[in-house]
Amino acid sequence: MTSSQDSTPFVRIGGQATIDQLVDAFYRQMDRLPEAKTIRAMHADDLTSVGQVLKRYLGEWLGGPKLYSQERGHPRLRMRHMPFRIGEAERDAWMACMSRALEEVVAEAQLRTDLLQSFYKLADWVRNDDGNPHDAHN
Ligand code: HEM
Repeated sequence: MTSSQDSTPFVRIGGQATIDQLVDAFYRQMDRLPEAKTIRAMHADDLTSVGQVLKRYLGEWLGGPKLYSQERGHPRLRMRHMPFRIGEAERDAWMACMSRALEEVVAEAQLRTDLLQSFYKLADWVRNDDGNPHDAHN
């Protein structure tokens, strides 16, 4: 028997089907949460196409098939977010949506905690407001 430590997060979460549910729940939260108003307004009215991209991205990021980079090349996530002003408030709004989506979709508490930590690192790194310490190294 393999322990959960041996599998990728992609396997632990339940594969692409669960990731698809997570992304759907994430954008539903973005549509609803008052604190997500600002980041919702950065997106197109129709979230279908960005949802499809995020599903592929997360599948790859969690250790599944490399569908995102086959289609779109290197993620260059920071660069792709440069057109939007992302500070601490926007990062926290993004995390609020993701945190609720994880609660809805992922049953295993430890996995939720692990994923939240990884998402936070990425969301903080995507931040592009003045004084982001990450920029000091660029
Ligand atoms: C920190 C706050 C964040 C904000 C405000 C934000 C906002 C956005 C916006 C406005 C877009 C463009 C949507 C469109 O084209 O209509 C986008 C694209 C995207 N975001 Fe974020 N984002 C954030 C963090 C993240 C994080 C943490 C991830 C990954 C876990 C992520 C993954 C993506 C991906 C994969 C795309 C599509 C990129 C592509 O075109 O290939 N974002 N985001």
